[in-house]
Amino acid sequence: MARYELVKRSVALITLTNPPVNALSSAVRHGIAKTMERALSDPKVTAVVICGENGRFCGGADIREFAGPLRGPPLVPLLDLIEAGEKPVVAAIEGVALGGGLELALVCHYRIAHFKARLGLPEVTLGILPAAGGTQRLPRLIGIPAALELIITGRHVSAQEALKLGIVDQVTEQNACEVAVEFALRALAKPLSSRRLSSRTTPCPPNLDALLEAVTMQIQKKARGVMAPLACVQAVRAAATMPYSQGIKRESELMATLFHSGQARALQYCFFAERTAGKWTLPSGAQWNDTKPREIRSAAVIGLGTMGRGIAVSLARVGIPVIAVESDKKLLETGRQMVIGMLERDAKRRGVSASLNLLKFTLSLQDLKDVDLVIEAVFEDMALKKSVFRELSKVCRPATLLCTNTSGLDVDALAGVTDRPQLVIGMHFFSPAHVMKLLEVVCGPRSSSETVATAMSLGKRMGKVSVAVGNCPGFVGNRMLKPYSDQASFLLEEGATPEQIDKALEDFGFAMGVFRMSDLAGLDVGWRVRKESGLTGPDVDPKNPPRRRQGRKYCPIPDMVCEQGRFGQKTGRGWYVYDKPGGTNAKPDPLIQNLLETYRSRYGIKPRNITDQEIIERCLFALANEGFRILEDGIAAQPEDIDVIYLFGYGFPRHRGGPMFYASMVGLQRVLERLEHYHQAHPDVPHLEPSPLLKKLVACGSPPVQKWREHIKTMHSHL
Ligand code: COA
Ligand code: ADP
Repeated sequence: MARYELVKRSVALITLTNPPVNALSSAVRHGIAKTMERALSDPKVTAVVICGENGRFCGGADIREFAGPLRGPPLVPLLDLIEAGEKPVVAAIEGVALGGGLELALVCHYRIAHFKARLGLPEVTLGILPAAGGTQRLPRLIGIPAALELIITGRHVSAQEALKLGIVDQVTEQNACEVAVEFALRALAKPLSSRRLSSRTTPCPPNLDALLEAVTMQIQKKARGVMAPLACVQAVRAAATMPYSQGIKRESELMATLFHSGQARALQYCFFAERTAGKWTLPSGAQWNDTKPREIRSAAVIGLGTMGRGIAVSLARVGIPVIAVESDKKLLETGRQMVIGMLERDAKRRGVSASLNLLKFTLSLQDLKDVDLVIEAVFEDMALKKSVFRELSKVCRPATLLCTNTSGLDVDALAGVTDRPQLVIGMHFFSPAHVMKLLEVVCGPRSSSETVATAMSLGKRMGKVSVAVGNCPGFVGNRMLKPYSDQASFLLEEGATPEQIDKALEDFGFAMGVFRMSDLAGLDVGWRVRKESGLTGPDVDPKNPPRRRQGRKYCPIPDMVCEQGRFGQKTGRGWYVYDKPGGTNAKPDPLIQNLLETYRSRYGIKPRNITDQEIIERCLFALANEGFRILEDGIAAQPEDIDVIYLFGYGFPRHRGGPMFYASMVGLQRVLERLEHYHQAHPDVPHLEPSPLLKKLVACGSPPVQKWREHIKTMHSHL
């Protein structure tokens, strides 16, 4: 796990060999201990260079080992040994030096980085802190403000930035190992004592307390209830105020509070879930690693509304030529200006030049005859989409992939009007499409495995987290949203206010509660969907709307709010009131309070006090319950897929892991009991009836979320 060679007759070259990222597993730590001992004790060796195999220095601790007991040599004493050695040690950083990888580099006496390398201490994103001296050595090297920023954000820096900050001594465009060997030979004459970071004093700003206080407040405001960044601030404070020997103890105590926490487990689960989600399997058995995606050299986007513009920008900025289509000249011109503006701003932010030459704008579908792939993003109207797909089927060459950016319509029905149903697939982007990371790839029953592979790989190329899902109304994300928001509406009837429900959800960790979120998205969107599905409309008595529709409980309050022209932020009024149309500062509105009171008294509902616990349980257990049904129906293949969708598309707090992981942390038995309890109280709400899969998992002893797949029958798989 660590290779030892003697180069230039006197330099020991130690290469970490643990593909793919040379993580510091117990075997690697063991390897480093052995090879370092050999280097330090061999009189022929005058200097040491540490590097990683396959152009990757080290991706840090092996996260998979966190769940088990510590085996092999612990990292801290090993790193102390390297730093204390009397022979100069140089880190040759290629690829990445992250977490424990950077901590390893920090105990080396010199650091050489390849110009493409990235460095950072991302532990905070995994719910822990850099506990192999990182919080103590980095501030001693680059000062408190810069170290604090890197440690609490977990941000990766480029080699150039690392050089500017003083993290590395030299950046090279050549082979970093060879440069490091030469560097080590030149360093022989220089004293090592000042190169040992643990013996340095931390450069401290005069306003240390104020700085730490301000950062703490910022974290508390931005990442409500998240523990790790706060612990990082305390560890950095120790670096500023204590000698190294005490600071490292403080670091270790703080790590002990985080290491076994639910938040750390959730965040580490998210890390792997994100990677698992890319590994799709279809009912035919075809899967991600045996299907080659097609290369996409050109694309088209139809419709330059909010979604189409974002999609066009996302394609062009990764170098894919795009033809954008609109239905009339004026809209095309507006769309053109918007897309160009977005692309220019994006390029400026990234410090690159905008690839405007990749964009073409047209009114004619005929211009799409040669493209490799089309993404349709016209209005959410089945008849219109069908006519566009019929036309595309005639115009495009037979091999062109036809994708629809629908948020819930039947992808197979669209496939059915084309001459190539196997090449039709849903690509459900989230708004704004050039910002939001989630992409639901909606596989129809006739989508071929090559089509799935191509859409998934295109999503990845566009920087999206792509998840393959089956074809059903609302797919995964929007299908689950319904029971969640229904519960919020029922709670309004029973006595809660929008602001109380939002506060409970925001305290739980959501960036926005359900009502603030619908004000942002526009209340008319859901209203239109309810009208189309016959749930509301002109036949309903607006004064006395019934509270049952289509055989189940129905809350008419959202329709009543829309009937007053309150569509959310864009109209300046929705569940809240805003200072102006388009304003974002939500204030509780007494008119909504009146509406709720009048409603309750009309139907004889006696408002009751509703606790935050009930709000969380009813909204989130109903959400997870629908997730279990989605797994049962084979619309998602694994719980990780659902969680990733909620993390990246719906603002679910990452430190809670996603709705399915959260349910497993609460305990499936408890979720089941509470759903049974609420279903008894509301027998006409089918979403509260525990799903068979949940019952089955509880009967099997509530296995951990990673094992659910074994219990899910794939007989009905739509994937
Ligand atoms: N421990 C264990 N496994 C790790 C790992 C780590 N520190 N870092 C990466 N892996 C695994 C991934 O799970 C993935 O496994 P898979 O192929 O079975 O899915 C594989 O290594 C490749 O990782 P991936 O992220 O897909 O590769 P990449 O080239 O896109 O990114 C890194 C490489 C190193 C930037 C990225 O993996 C990363 O950020 N790793 C975590 C770094 C970290 O947080 N270190 C501190 C640990 S405390
Ligand atoms: P979304 O929010 O989903 O992007 P919008 O209503 O903002 O939806 O945008 C849909 C866009 O699609 C509109 O700009 C509309 O002009 C355009 N559009 C509708 N039909 C066609 C069509 N047949 N060809 C090209 N563009 C179309």
